[in-house]
Order: sequence, then C-alpha cells, then structure tokens
Amino acid sequence: MSDDDTHDTGRSGRPGDAPAGPGDASGGQLGDGTRAVRAGLPEPVKYEPTLPGPVFAAHFHLPGDPTGPYTYGRDENPTWTHLERAIGELEAPGQSGVETLVFASGMAAVSAVLLSQLRSGDAVVLPDDGYQALPLLHEQLRAYGIEVRTAPTAGDAQLSVLAGAKLLWLETPSNPGLDVCDLRRMVAAAHEAGALVAVDNTLATPLGQRPLQLGADFSVASDTKGMTGHGDILLGHVSCRDPRRAAEVRRWRKIVGAIPGPMEAWLAHRSLATLQLRIDRQCATALALAEALAKHPTVTGLRYPGLPGDPSHEVAARQMRRFGSVVSFVLPDRARADRFLDALRLVDDATSFGGVRSTAERRGRWGGDAVPEGFVRFSVGAEDPEDLIADVLQALDKAGAAAG
Ligand SMILES: Cc1ncc(COP(=O)(O)O)c(C=O)c1O
Repeated sequence: MSDDDTHDTGRSGRPGDAPAGPGDASGGQLGDGTRAVRAGLPEPVKYEPTLPGPVFAAHFHLPGDPTGPYTYGRDENPTWTHLERAIGELEAPGQSGVETLVFASGMAAVSAVLLSQLRSGDAVVLPDDGYQALPLLHEQLRAYGIEVRTAPTAGDAQLSVLAGAKLLWLETPSNPGLDVCDLRRMVAAAHEAGALVAVDNTLATPLGQRPLQLGADFSVASDTKGMTGHGDILLGHVSCRDPRRAAEVRRWRKIVGAIPGPMEAWLAHRSLATLQLRIDRQCATALALAEALAKHPTVTGLRYPGLPGDPSHEVAARQMRRFGSVVSFVLPDRARADRFLDALRLVDDATSFGGVRSTAERRGRWGGDAVPEGFVRFSVGAEDPEDLIADVLQALDKAGAAAG
C-alpha cells in the first residue's frame, strides 16, 4: 500500500491522524491496526477488564432530577457509549465535535438520518442503484410529502438533479454495482447549493473511506457487514459532524426506539479490534480474485474498484484507503450462475457481505436490483487466497462443463 494522501495506514501524520483515545500515548501517529484494537477503551481501572462487559439494564438508579448520562435503557447505555466512542475514533480521528450513534440495524441508521432531517415539501436526492431496500424508503418519503429524485452513482449523475434539494444521499461504492462517485466534488456542489450530504459507507468501512473527512455531514453504515465482520449480528451507526443534527438523529432514535441490544453492541466492539486485520486480508484477496476472474473467458462485467482499469478505479484511488471486500461479475445466464454457486465448496450461497466467511449470491434472485440474471455479488472472506481462488476457478469450470 502506498503512502500517498489516501492509501496510508493512518500513520502518515495527515491532519486527520490523532490520538485513538485514552490508550494513545503516541502523540497521534497511530496506524489503523493500533487504532482499531484500542478504539473506545476506557481509562484502565485496577481489577476491571480492558473492555467492560455488556451492561444489561432497562433502567438505572436515578434518585432526584432525571439527568444523564444514564437514565433509561432506550436513551443511553454504557456499552453503547464505549462502542460509539470507538466508531467515532475510526470515522473521524482527530476531528472534534463528531458524534456517533449506534442503531439496531443499518436500515434503522439510514432511516434515522432521512426521517429526522426531511420535512414535507423538502426534496431529497438518492442513488437509483443503491441498496435494494432504499426504494421502500422512497415510497415512505413520498407518502410524507417529500420529493424523491434519483440518479445513478456513476459519473456523479446525482448532481444533475440536485438543485433545490435539502439532502444528497450517496452510496459509494454502490451495492451491488460497485460504482463510485467523487465525494469531494459531490460535497462541494451540494454545500454550494445549500444541501446536506449523507454517505452510506457500509461497503468501505471507515478504514476504507472517511466521508466526514471528505466533507460529508453524515457517515452512515450497516455495521452488520464488514465493521463487525462475523455475520452474526445486525447493527448500524450514524456519525455526524454537527451537534444540532446529531441531536435530531438522537431524538429520532429515542422516539422510534431502534436501539441495539447491549450484547450486540459489546460483540461489535469486540469485533472492531480485528477490523484492520480482517479488512486488509479481505481487500488483498478481493483484488487477487478480481485479477483471476479477469482472465476467465466466461466472466464479463467484472467490477472491483481496486482493479486498475475498473471504471471506478481512478476516483476510488483518490478517496479510498482500501477498496473493500466485494467483487461483482456476470456469468452468461441464470442457470450458469446457479450452477457456479452450487459448485463452490468454500463459499456459502448467502446474502450480505463483509464477513470472514466468503459468501456469494445471484443478486437477481431478489428482484430489487437492475442487474442481469447471471450477475453474481461475491463477498471475499478471510480464507487463504489460494484456496478461495482455486475453489472459484473449479466452480466456474464445473458450471461451464455442465453447459457443454
Ligand atoms: C449499502 C447498505 N446500506 C444499508 C444496508 C442495510 O443494513 P441492515 O441490513 O443492517 O439493516 C445494507 C444491507 O445490506 C447495505 O448493503
């Protein structure tokens, strides 16, 4: 990995690099791995564990005036506090005033930003190639009298429908097409036009891309994916640079009650310690897999933002620090894709992405994405790259042989 503006380990002394938290005695020159293992840890207390266990509490002792920090379990929880601090340190190291809030799922976080910020009569610009549950939100927003405009992620096309909008919602790289928009350019144009910018950073994770440092107002993610990385919990978060906006999102969480359980929050914090190890391994293998797929005669439409020559690569290399664990490609038809998935031995045919166990699926089976029938979204796990690539190649051969 080069040591330029974007592709560094967090050790280059850029303006964004700063102490990871109470455990950081380095003067701010921490690498991403160090930052990840120490993120959100409280000051050491004799006889207390390094990462305090989950606090299971619906209410807290509260004599007298009902002031925080901990009053009622829907408002706050000490296990969330540690996790929110940890995520904040990864999303915006050294940036003051950034607040992070955790949610029960990625969709709870996405909805919290859209529904706390938009009012009847406002216009919002969304990608038309984003996560497949977004169209459900379009319907809901329209029902509330909000104008919904959409355009593709590629080519910064959302700028063409920005005029007069209150909020620009970006998803980059997009799921599942892996298109990338130019975040600095989009943010500058939106702010110039008086619009807020929110970025769904699920695919990249904060180790891959830091939307707040690139100027966005909100960084939002499904932490069900790479952030927690084991495919065993649902979680989401919102990081926000403006305390007033953060208070609005917090209020939304309180009134809707879309809160994570303490166990999920604690598991997520525990998983963050290995974030850099997992993501580095997954990104390196994803690139190797993409390179192998590029040479295969039955594979078309191959996309991976880290692949030189990918339509997204140039923009991605300017704003991303790691290119993610997802590779997508197209096999000739639905039957070939199904046979391929069936023939994989080390890869589960399952949805979601970012986990340590590779998964792949024929995305068209859901009906929500504008993709060809043979489109495969492949999430690269932490297996040995040679084993994984060999498995993919034998499955491609097997799927092809059956066609002959
Ligand atoms: C880009 C993106 N955003 C949001 C979500 C929603 O996250 P969750 O399933 O945790 O609600 C997903 C889920 O796949 C996603 O891929």
